[in-house]
Amino acid sequence: MELNIALLPGDGIGPEVVGQAVKVVDAVAEKFGHKINWTSALTGAAAIDAVGDPYPDATHEVCLAADAVLFGAIGHPRYDNDPKAPVRPEQGLLKMRKKLGLFANVRPTFTFPSLIDNSPLKRERIEGTDLIILRELTGGIYFGERGRKDNGDTAFDTCTYTRAEVQRLAKLGFEMAMNRRKKLCCVDKANVLESSRLWRETVQDMEKDFPEVEVSYEFVDAVAMRLVQWPSSYDVIITENLFGDILTDEASVISGSMGLMPSASIGLHTSLFEPIHGSYPQAAGKDIANPLATVLSAAMLFEDAFGLKEEAALIRSVVDKSLAEGVVTEDLAGKNKAYKTSEVGDWLAAQIGLRETAETSVQ
Ligand code: IPM
Ligand code: MN
Repeated sequence: MELNIALLPGDGIGPEVVGQAVKVVDAVAEKFGHKINWTSALTGAAAIDAVGDPYPDATHEVCLAADAVLFGAIGHPRYDNDPKAPVRPEQGLLKMRKKLGLFANVRPTFTFPSLIDNSPLKRERIEGTDLIILRELTGGIYFGERGRKDNGDTAFDTCTYTRAEVQRLAKLGFEMAMNRRKKLCCVDKANVLESSRLWRETVQDMEKDFPEVEVSYEFVDAVAMRLVQWPSSYDVIITENLFGDILTDEASVISGSMGLMPSASIGLHTSLFEPIHGSYPQAAGKDIANPLATVLSAAMLFEDAFGLKEEAALIRSVVDKSLAEGVVTEDLAGKNKAYKTSEVGDWLAAQIGLRETAETSVQ
């Protein structure tokens, strides 16, 4: 199969972690006889520096023309303490989501048996966790009307949703639940917010179309608590943009490391795959960042964008092996030897190559 993939390394550790995913994808392609056409493009601070726009039109064209996008991270400390900066790298991410119509962000949360004691949460609470947070990504307070009044002394951001926006996200949630444990939890703040009441009403109306799915409705403050108390009780969670932003960071704690969690953003055009961590500028260029979240995002890319399940499974199995054998970066190494980012990438790619030999020798 010929796969056209747009490569958006972005800022900070983005280029390093994406570089390892490329090694892994190329190794998988070699093994399965696929042809990958990579096209790189600029985003974030790197794109501001080059052309003054964090998501340039040229990059958008590259994404539209591709079958899938592999993305690193966006953000630069130069902008963090400057609330008056005219353009910010993060605007590139928001513009990209909007222009590509990426209305659904899929963030799976699961535990790795070999890392279960890395989590700050007790083993018995998190064992068996396997949930997906489906976050609405192109609406809500992120994109609502905002501004200042009273000579700048009053500021406002508004959260707006249409029924259609809720429906398309909820439909994906119901469909995912049907392929899993058939449980859907709609997270909102319907005791206070009108937009949340629209969410709840819309999802309630859709229940009849998915009679096998058991639907629950929970307030976001309560979920913030239950997510770390009984994470294994959840299957698919659907929620609006800002609640999803917060809950997905919280959920990453369950797995024990942000450096492990992949994500997919899907919508109207090309789907995008990225690690959930940020650009981690302190580590940029040091060859120490954990590439596994990006590598696992590449596994999602094979499976979700191309339906190539075996390829995805192979990537996941070599990642599991690297965790079990301690071929990991310093964030996971503990007292053991820490491998460099590039060494982990090389090891994974080599394992993928070896796997064929191992299988052949068994036969
Ligand atoms: C994320 C990030 C972004 C968001 C930022 C960088 C704009 O935190 O992808 O979760 O808030 O959506
Ligand atoms: Mn976030």
